[in-house]
Amino acid sequence: MEFDISNPALAADGLKRIDWAWREMPVLQLLFKRFERERPLAGLRISGCLHITTETANLARVLQAGGATLRLCASNPLSTQDDVAAALVEHFHIPVYARRGEDDSTYYQHIHACLAQRPQITLDDGADLVSELHKQAPDWLREVLGGTEETTTGVIRLRAMAKDGALKIPLVAVNDADTKHLFDNRYGTGQSALDGVIRATNILLAGKHFTVVGYGWCGRGIALRARGMGALVTVTEVNPTRALEAAMDGYTVMPLTEAAKTADFIVTATGDKHVVDSAHFAVMQDGCILANAGHFNVEINLPALDALASHITKPRQSVQSYHLADGRVLRVLAEGRLVNLAAAEGHPSAVMDMSFANQVLAVEYLARQGQKLTAEVHRVPAELDQQVARLKLQAMHIKIDTLTTDQQRYLNSWQEGT
Ligand code: ADE
Repeated sequence: MEFDISNPALAADGLKRIDWAWREMPVLQLLFKRFERERPLAGLRISGCLHITTETANLARVLQAGGATLRLCASNPLSTQDDVAAALVEHFHIPVYARRGEDDSTYYQHIHACLAQRPQITLDDGADLVSELHKQAPDWLREVLGGTEETTTGVIRLRAMAKDGALKIPLVAVNDADTKHLFDNRYGTGQSALDGVIRATNILLAGKHFTVVGYGWCGRGIALRARGMGALVTVTEVNPTRALEAAMDGYTVMPLTEAAKTADFIVTATGDKHVVDSAHFAVMQDGCILANAGHFNVEINLPALDALASHITKPRQSVQSYHLADGRVLRVLAEGRLVNLAAAEGHPSAVMDMSFANQVLAVEYLARQGQKLTAEVHRVPAELDQQVARLKLQAMHIKIDTLTTDQQRYLNSWQEGT
């Protein structure tokens, strides 16, 4: 079996951590049992470009139980947990192509190695795998039943591909399932981005000025948790409705050029490029900490910051200090890459349980229906989304009410009014 990982000797540590995460993933455990019985993916080749974490290993475990032949590569050069990569190779016999800290050229070589098995289903986190498949091996697209996409950024990219007429296979937007973005993007990013900032800096948040750039589901979660830690939270937005929502949620809202003057921390979660730029660097106070929680490392304009710096030092593992000519020092976490995975361990397992249950059900849906689906971006069918919610509630021992027949009838009628 071919693979490319950093250190096979880490496999035993990786397996212990994968099992630790598994305990927090009851929905995946239920799906694992059904997949072992029913083998809905028997004989299918599936390639995944995902963050190589303990949670992803458990997703792979379920897909493998369903009969799939898997290959995995990293969806970010800094998010790979090398012990997990080793355990996937050693204990699950899955070819993994991922080394933490790999350079861009290795990153793409790994994607190509993952594609080389000519997958029938693809799993993406950021759409790099599908985009490379379309660019490098268009002839192989005929064999592909479809793919899934985990992130907001990836879904935006795929919709752009579809709009251009470039998308040739059906894609399921896992991100858009309610049981994904309402939990993973909000509570997952909320906790894990703060975890990344804290692990990287060990600086007290209480009483600090903390600016969140972007008030989508990720930004909402980061703001919520930063406020919970006692920070004075400011939100910056370009969308008037979201800005209004942030204001009514109790945050200070202002343009970033204003917020940057007093911020101790600035965390981006927009999915767009250069949202923190030269005009903002110019007014930041000495010591300001910059981090990104969006998928790609483009949100902070690092080349522009680089050009302003006389030199860069590394005071801690995940911190780079940019020394500016005027004496100020601006600190960037995790090279501007997504701070929750590069400086911490990504979202907690309990939330990835739901995201990856959607992945599993979307893959099963593609295996059954892929041939009939058009080459567009599709939603996760509502009944699958609700199935995830129901299974999660069941695992959490939470019971809910049901409508009476009379109530159901009332909701479906229009005659009864005042
Ligand atoms: N994306 C965010 N957190 C993650 C995790 N723990 N595993 C895989 N993908 C993730």
